[in-house]
Amino acid sequence: MTKRELFMANLDGEFTTRVPIWIMRQAGRYLPQYREFRRNISFEELCKTPKAVAEVTAQPVEILDLDAAIIFSDILFILEPLGIDLRFDPGPIISPFLEKPEQLSQMAEYEPESKLQFVADALLETRRRLGNDIPLLGFCGAPFTVFCYLTGIRGARDFHKTIRFLTNYPDESALVLERLAKLSIRYLRMQSGAGADAVQIFDTWAGELGEKEFAAWSFPYLKMIIEQLAEENIRASLYIKGAYHLLDYIRILPVNVVSLDWKTPLWRAAELLEPKTLQGNLDPHLLLGNRDVVVKRATDILHEMADYSGFIFNLGHGILPDTPVENVRALVETVHSFERTRS
Ligand code: CP3
Repeated sequence: MTKRELFMANLDGEFTTRVPIWIMRQAGRYLPQYREFRRNISFEELCKTPKAVAEVTAQPVEILDLDAAIIFSDILFILEPLGIDLRFDPGPIISPFLEKPEQLSQMAEYEPESKLQFVADALLETRRRLGNDIPLLGFCGAPFTVFCYLTGIRGARDFHKTIRFLTNYPDESALVLERLAKLSIRYLRMQSGAGADAVQIFDTWAGELGEKEFAAWSFPYLKMIIEQLAEENIRASLYIKGAYHLLDYIRILPVNVVSLDWKTPLWRAAELLEPKTLQGNLDPHLLLGNRDVVVKRATDILHEMADYSGFIFNLGHGILPDTPVENVRALVETVHSFERTRS
C-alpha cells in the first residue's frame, strides 16, 4: 500500500492496520534544511515560486518519512488581491487593517483563479516533485479566521478588535465573511483541480468564540464552503483550535475529517463524530522536552484510537520552531511501528 493509498483509505473512513501521520507546519523553522533554504529567499517570495514551494513541501516528507505533504503557502494570500498589503516577519503584518466600514468600498473584486494561480502552479510542481505515491493537501483559512487577521489580530490580545468590528458593524461583517467564503470555494476548487487530494480548512480562532457567536460568525460560512465541496466530491478536513464546545456543530457539517487540538479528548470526539475521520491530537508543546514523554503520549493516543476507522495522526496545532528534530523522528517511528488489529 502506498502512502497515498493509506492516507486516502483513512480519509474515506476505512480501518487500516497502519496509521498515517503528518504534522501541521511540518515544513518550517524547526528543520535545519528549511532554515538553510530560507537564508536566500523571503517567505513571500518562496510561496510564490513553484519550484521553491515544491522543494520545501517535499523536505519533511523526505527527511522525516511523513505520510502526507501539505502545500507550503499561507492562509492570508487570499487577502492580498483585495488590495491589502501583506508581509511576514515571521508572523503576518497586514496593512491597512479593516477598522471602519467605509474601507469596504476600497476592497477590489478579483478572480481567485488568476490572482492565486501561483498556488495551483505550486501544487502541479509539487506533484511532479513528489510523484504519485505521496498524498498532497491543499488548504485555506476559514472566513472567520481570515477575518480575524483582516481586522488586525496578531495574537490573542488583539481579539477585541475583531469582536468590536463584528458587533459594531454586523451587516458589513456578514458581507465580508460571505465574500471570503465564496472566494475560498473557488480557491479550493482550483487547488483540487491542480491535484490536491484533499483540502484542510483552518479555523484556528473560532474556538475562542462562545457557541452563539460561533453559530453567527463562523458556522454559516464553514457550512457554505463545506457543503459546496461535498457536492463536488472534494474531500475536506476542518481544523478548529479549541473546538470541544463546538462539536455538536461540527458534527452536522458534511466534512470528511475533523482535526482536533489536544484539549479535546479523542474518545469523546469519537463518540460524537463517528463515522467522520479524526485527526490529531498530540500537544505540540510536549515535543519540546523529553523524548520518552513523546513516545509515551503518542502510544497512548494510538491505543485510544486503536479500533477507530479513519484516523490520521497529527499534532493538536502547528509544530513549534524550537522542537528538536530527534523528537519528531521518535514520534514518526512510534506511529509507524504501531500495528493495529481489529478487535
Ligand atoms: O502546515 C504546513 O506546513 C503548511 C504551511 C502553512 C503555513 N501557514 C506556513 C507558514 C500553513 C498550513 C499555514 C496556515 C496558517 N497561517 C494558519 C492556520 C494554521 C495555524 O497555525 O493556526 C494561520 C493562523 C496562519 C497565519 C500565519 N502565518 C501566522 C500566525 C504566521 C506566523 C507563524 C510563526 O510560526 O511565526 C504565519 C507565517 C508562516 N506561515 C510561517 C510558515 C512556515 C512562518 C514563516 C517563516 O518560516 O519565517
